[in-house]
Amino acid sequence: MILDRFRLDDRVAVVTGAGRGLGQGIAVGLAEAGADLVAVDIIELQETRRQIESQGRRCTAVVADLGKESSVQQIIDAALAAFGRIDILVNNAGIIRRAPFLEFSLRDWDEVMDINIRAVFLLSQAAARVMAGAGHGGKIINIASMLSFQGGVRVPSYTASKSAVMGLTKLMANELAPLGIQVNAIAPGYMATDNTAPLRRDAVRSKEILGRIPAGRWGEPADLQGAAVFLASAAADYVQGATLAVDGGWLAR
Ligand SMILES: NC(=O)c1ccc[n+]([C@@H]2O[C@H](COP(=O)([O-])OP(=O)(O)OC[C@H]3O[C@@H](n4cnc5c(N)ncnc54)[C@H](O)[C@@H]3O)[C@@H](O)[C@H]2O)c1
Repeated sequence: MILDRFRLDDRVAVVTGAGRGLGQGIAVGLAEAGADLVAVDIIELQETRRQIESQGRRCTAVVADLGKESSVQQIIDAALAAFGRIDILVNNAGIIRRAPFLEFSLRDWDEVMDINIRAVFLLSQAAARVMAGAGHGGKIINIASMLSFQGGVRVPSYTASKSAVMGLTKLMANELAPLGIQVNAIAPGYMATDNTAPLRRDAVRSKEILGRIPAGRWGEPADLQGAAVFLASAAADYVQGATLAVDGGWLAR
Protein backbone atom coordinates (compact mmCIF):
# COMPACT_ATOMS: atom_id res chain seq x y z
CA MET A 1 0.00 0.00 0.00
CA ILE A 2 1.47 3.35 -0.98
CA LEU A 3 0.25 5.11 2.17
CA ASP A 4 2.05 2.51 4.32
CA ARG A 5 5.32 3.56 2.67
CA PHE A 6 4.94 7.03 4.21
CA ARG A 7 4.72 5.56 7.73
CA LEU A 8 7.75 5.89 10.03
CA ASP A 9 6.81 3.28 12.64
CA ASP A 10 9.83 1.89 14.52
CA ARG A 11 12.16 4.48 12.98
CA VAL A 12 14.36 6.66 15.14
CA ALA A 13 14.78 10.29 14.06
CA VAL A 14 17.31 12.83 15.31
CA VAL A 15 16.15 16.42 14.77
CA THR A 16 18.41 19.36 15.64
CA GLY A 17 17.00 22.73 16.68
CA ALA A 18 13.84 20.90 17.77
CA GLY A 19 13.10 23.19 20.73
CA ARG A 20 10.97 25.65 18.78
CA GLY A 21 10.13 26.90 15.29
CA LEU A 22 10.52 24.73 12.22
CA GLY A 23 12.49 21.98 13.98
CA GLN A 24 9.76 21.52 16.56
CA GLY A 25 7.16 21.29 13.79
CA ILE A 26 9.26 18.75 11.88
CA ALA A 27 9.92 16.64 15.00
CA VAL A 28 6.22 16.51 15.88
CA GLY A 29 5.33 15.67 12.26
CA LEU A 30 7.78 12.73 12.22
CA ALA A 31 6.32 11.52 15.54
CA GLU A 32 2.80 11.74 14.13
CA ALA A 33 3.98 9.49 11.29
CA GLY A 34 5.25 6.93 13.83
CA ALA A 35 8.89 7.79 14.61
CA ASP A 36 10.56 7.98 18.02
CA LEU A 37 12.57 11.16 18.45
CA VAL A 38 15.92 12.35 19.65
CA ALA A 39 15.24 16.08 19.98
CA VAL A 40 18.36 18.26 20.12
CA ASP A 41 18.63 21.93 21.01
CA ILE A 42 20.66 24.41 23.01
CA ILE A 43 17.40 25.48 24.72
CA GLU A 44 15.15 23.28 26.87
CA LEU A 45 12.93 20.82 25.06
CA GLN A 46 10.03 20.21 27.45
CA GLU A 47 7.32 21.51 25.11
CA THR A 48 8.67 19.50 22.17
CA ARG A 49 8.82 16.37 24.31
CA ARG A 50 5.26 16.97 25.50
CA GLN A 51 3.98 17.25 21.92
CA ILE A 52 5.84 14.11 20.80
CA GLU A 53 4.69 12.05 23.77
CA SER A 54 1.11 13.20 23.18
CA GLN A 55 1.43 11.39 19.82
CA GLY A 56 2.20 8.21 21.73
CA ARG A 57 5.84 8.27 20.66
CA ARG A 58 9.01 8.29 22.75
CA CYS A 59 11.32 11.33 22.99
CA THR A 60 14.88 11.67 24.27
CA ALA A 61 15.89 15.29 24.76
CA VAL A 62 19.53 16.27 24.26
CA VAL A 63 20.57 19.77 25.31
CA ALA A 64 23.76 20.44 23.35
CA ASP A 65 25.56 23.29 21.61
CA LEU A 66 26.15 22.33 17.98
CA GLY A 67 28.98 24.86 17.89
CA LYS A 68 31.02 22.40 19.96
CA GLU A 69 32.53 19.38 18.23
CA SER A 70 31.98 17.24 21.35
CA SER A 71 28.20 17.66 21.00
CA VAL A 72 28.20 15.36 17.98
CA GLN A 73 29.29 12.31 19.97
CA GLN A 74 26.96 13.33 22.82
CA ILE A 75 24.00 13.24 20.41
CA ILE A 76 24.99 9.92 18.80
CA ASP A 77 25.59 8.30 22.20
CA ALA A 78 22.23 9.55 23.53
CA ALA A 79 20.39 8.20 20.49
CA LEU A 80 22.04 4.79 20.66
CA ALA A 81 21.60 4.54 24.46
CA ALA A 82 17.88 5.36 24.20
CA PHE A 83 16.90 3.52 21.02
CA GLY A 84 19.89 1.49 19.75
CA ARG A 85 19.65 2.88 16.22
CA ILE A 86 19.41 5.99 14.05
CA ASP A 87 17.29 5.92 10.87
CA ILE A 88 16.67 9.60 10.15
CA LEU A 89 18.71 12.75 10.74
CA VAL A 90 17.22 16.20 10.19
CA ASN A 91 19.87 18.94 10.28
CA ASN A 92 17.54 21.82 11.09
CA ALA A 93 19.33 23.98 13.68
CA GLY A 94 20.48 27.22 12.12
CA ILE A 95 21.22 30.83 12.99
CA ILE A 96 21.32 34.09 11.07
CA ARG A 97 23.17 37.40 11.52
CA ARG A 98 22.11 40.51 9.65
CA ALA A 99 24.45 43.39 8.73
CA PRO A 100 25.62 45.07 5.51
CA PHE A 101 28.39 43.21 3.68
CA LEU A 102 30.86 46.12 4.10
CA GLU A 103 30.43 46.04 7.89
CA PHE A 104 30.01 42.29 8.39
CA SER A 105 32.22 40.96 11.19
CA LEU A 106 34.37 37.85 11.16
CA ARG A 107 32.59 36.73 14.31
CA ASP A 108 29.20 36.85 12.56
CA TRP A 109 30.75 34.94 9.68
CA ASP A 110 32.31 32.20 11.84
CA GLU A 111 29.39 31.68 14.23
CA VAL A 112 26.89 31.19 11.42
CA MET A 113 29.20 28.91 9.42
CA ASP A 114 29.91 26.81 12.54
CA ILE A 115 26.24 26.00 13.18
CA ASN A 116 24.77 26.09 9.67
CA ILE A 117 27.37 24.05 7.77
CA ARG A 118 30.25 22.77 9.96
CA ALA A 119 27.88 21.07 12.39
CA VAL A 120 25.84 19.68 9.47
CA PHE A 121 29.00 18.07 8.07
CA LEU A 122 30.09 16.64 11.42
CA LEU A 123 26.72 15.30 12.55
CA SER A 124 25.86 13.88 9.11
CA GLN A 125 29.21 12.08 8.97
CA ALA A 126 28.72 10.60 12.44
CA ALA A 127 25.10 9.56 11.81
CA ALA A 128 25.91 8.10 8.38
CA ARG A 129 28.67 6.01 9.96
CA VAL A 130 26.10 4.59 12.40
CA MET A 131 23.56 3.93 9.62
CA ALA A 132 26.18 2.34 7.37
CA GLY A 133 27.60 0.25 10.23
CA ALA A 134 24.14 -1.09 11.08
CA GLY A 135 23.60 -1.98 7.43
CA HIS A 136 20.04 -0.65 7.25
CA GLY A 137 20.62 2.65 5.45
CA GLY A 138 18.74 5.77 6.40
CA LYS A 139 17.67 9.28 5.50
CA ILE A 140 19.40 12.60 6.00
CA ILE A 141 17.39 15.78 5.49
CA ASN A 142 19.14 19.14 5.56
CA ILE A 143 17.27 22.41 6.00
CA ALA A 144 18.37 24.76 3.24
CA SER A 145 16.79 28.14 2.42
CA MET A 146 15.67 30.44 -0.37
CA LEU A 147 19.25 31.72 0.04
CA SER A 148 20.53 28.38 -1.24
CA PHE A 149 19.18 29.66 -4.59
CA GLN A 150 19.34 33.45 -4.24
CA GLY A 151 21.85 35.97 -2.91
CA GLY A 152 19.73 37.90 -0.45
CA VAL A 153 20.96 41.13 1.20
CA ARG A 154 22.66 41.80 4.57
CA VAL A 155 23.14 38.09 5.33
CA PRO A 156 26.54 37.12 3.83
CA SER A 157 27.37 34.19 6.10
CA TYR A 158 23.81 32.88 6.05
CA THR A 159 23.73 32.88 2.24
CA ALA A 160 27.17 31.26 2.04
CA SER A 161 26.19 28.58 4.58
CA LYS A 162 22.84 27.75 2.99
CA SER A 163 24.35 27.59 -0.50
CA ALA A 164 26.90 25.20 0.98
CA VAL A 165 24.10 23.12 2.52
CA MET A 166 22.63 22.53 -0.93
CA GLY A 167 26.03 21.55 -2.36
CA LEU A 168 26.91 19.25 0.53
CA THR A 169 23.48 17.61 0.23
CA LYS A 170 24.34 16.62 -3.34
CA LEU A 171 27.83 15.38 -2.45
CA MET A 172 26.52 13.26 0.43
CA ALA A 173 23.72 11.94 -1.80
CA ASN A 174 26.32 10.76 -4.32
CA GLU A 175 28.63 9.10 -1.83
CA LEU A 176 26.02 7.60 0.49
CA ALA A 177 23.60 6.23 -2.13
CA PRO A 178 25.48 2.90 -2.36
CA LEU A 179 25.02 2.53 1.42
CA GLY A 180 21.24 2.90 1.16
CA ILE A 181 21.26 6.39 2.64
CA GLN A 182 19.21 9.02 0.85
CA VAL A 183 20.22 12.64 1.40
CA ASN A 184 17.92 15.49 0.45
CA ALA A 185 17.17 19.03 1.56
CA ILE A 186 14.08 21.11 2.21
CA ALA A 187 14.28 24.81 1.36
CA PRO A 188 11.64 26.63 3.39
CA GLY A 189 10.35 29.92 2.07
CA TYR A 190 9.58 32.81 4.41
CA MET A 191 8.26 31.18 7.57
CA ALA A 192 6.84 32.86 10.67
CA THR A 193 9.43 31.91 13.34
CA ASP A 194 11.90 33.75 15.61
CA ASN A 195 14.42 33.58 12.74
CA THR A 196 12.31 36.00 10.66
CA ALA A 197 10.79 38.09 13.47
CA PRO A 198 12.92 41.16 12.59
CA LEU A 199 11.73 40.99 8.96
CA ARG A 200 8.09 40.78 10.03
CA ARG A 201 8.58 43.72 12.44
CA ASP A 202 9.95 45.87 9.58
CA ALA A 203 6.79 47.16 7.89
CA VAL A 204 8.53 47.85 4.56
CA ARG A 205 10.37 44.50 4.30
CA SER A 206 7.35 42.60 5.53
CA LYS A 207 5.12 44.14 2.83
CA GLU A 208 7.76 43.51 0.12
CA ILE A 209 8.14 39.87 1.12
CA LEU A 210 4.45 39.13 1.48
CA GLY A 211 3.75 40.81 -1.86
CA ARG A 212 6.06 38.32 -3.59
CA ILE A 213 4.66 35.13 -2.06
CA PRO A 214 2.04 33.68 -4.44
CA ALA A 215 0.38 31.84 -1.53
CA GLY A 216 -0.22 35.26 0.05
CA ARG A 217 0.93 34.31 3.55
CA TRP A 218 4.04 33.50 5.59
CA GLY A 219 4.64 29.77 6.07
CA GLU A 220 4.10 27.96 9.38
CA PRO A 221 6.16 25.11 10.90
CA ALA A 222 3.33 22.68 10.06
CA ASP A 223 3.78 23.52 6.37
CA LEU A 224 7.07 21.56 6.38
CA GLN A 225 5.69 18.39 7.96
CA GLY A 226 4.50 16.79 4.71
CA ALA A 227 7.84 17.26 2.94
CA ALA A 228 9.79 16.07 6.00
CA VAL A 229 7.72 12.91 6.47
CA PHE A 230 7.93 12.15 2.74
CA LEU A 231 11.72 12.56 2.54
CA ALA A 232 12.16 10.54 5.76
CA SER A 233 10.04 7.66 4.47
CA ALA A 234 10.37 4.69 2.13
CA ALA A 235 8.11 6.60 -0.29
CA ALA A 236 11.21 8.69 -1.11
CA ASP A 237 13.69 5.82 -1.52
CA TYR A 238 14.55 6.91 -5.08
CA VAL A 239 14.69 10.64 -4.29
CA GLN A 240 18.36 11.51 -3.95
CA GLY A 241 20.22 14.82 -3.76
CA ALA A 242 17.14 17.00 -4.25
CA THR A 243 16.37 20.32 -2.58
CA LEU A 244 12.61 20.62 -2.28
CA ALA A 245 11.32 24.18 -1.94
CA VAL A 246 8.35 24.57 0.41
CA ASP A 247 7.88 28.25 -0.20
CA GLY A 248 4.32 29.14 -1.15
CA GLY A 249 5.62 29.69 -4.70
CA TRP A 250 8.35 32.24 -3.87
CA LEU A 251 10.93 30.73 -6.26
CA ALA A 252 8.43 30.44 -9.07
CA ARG A 253 8.08 34.24 -9.23
N1 LIG B 1 12.14 30.89 9.36
C1 LIG B 1 12.43 30.92 8.07
O1 LIG B 1 11.81 31.69 7.32
C2 LIG B 1 13.45 30.01 7.49
C3 LIG B 1 13.56 30.00 6.09
C4 LIG B 1 14.49 29.17 5.51
C5 LIG B 1 15.30 28.38 6.29
N2 LIG B 1 15.18 28.41 7.65
C6 LIG B 1 16.05 27.51 8.40
O2 LIG B 1 15.26 26.63 9.15
C7 LIG B 1 15.99 26.23 10.31
C8 LIG B 1 15.15 26.47 11.55
O3 LIG B 1 14.91 27.86 11.64
P1 LIG B 1 13.74 28.53 12.48
O4 LIG B 1 13.11 29.55 11.60
O5 LIG B 1 12.89 27.48 13.09
O6 LIG B 1 14.61 29.31 13.56
P2 LIG B 1 14.50 29.40 15.15
O7 LIG B 1 15.51 30.41 15.53
O8 LIG B 1 13.07 29.61 15.54
O9 LIG B 1 14.93 27.94 15.62
C9 LIG B 1 16.24 27.46 15.47
C10 LIG B 1 16.53 26.48 16.58
O10 LIG B 1 17.90 26.06 16.48
C11 LIG B 1 18.46 26.12 17.77
N3 LIG B 1 19.90 26.37 17.76
C12 LIG B 1 20.51 27.52 17.41
N4 LIG B 1 21.82 27.45 17.64
C13 LIG B 1 22.05 26.20 18.18
C14 LIG B 1 23.22 25.55 18.65
N5 LIG B 1 24.41 26.14 18.66
N6 LIG B 1 23.08 24.29 19.14
C15 LIG B 1 21.88 23.69 19.17
N7 LIG B 1 20.74 24.27 18.74
C16 LIG B 1 20.82 25.52 18.25
C17 LIG B 1 17.74 27.28 18.45
O11 LIG B 1 17.86 27.23 19.87
C18 LIG B 1 16.33 27.13 17.95
O12 LIG B 1 15.54 26.33 18.79
C19 LIG B 1 17.29 27.01 10.28
O13 LIG B 1 18.31 26.22 9.70
C20 LIG B 1 16.94 28.19 9.40
O14 LIG B 1 18.08 28.74 8.81
C21 LIG B 1 14.27 29.22 8.26
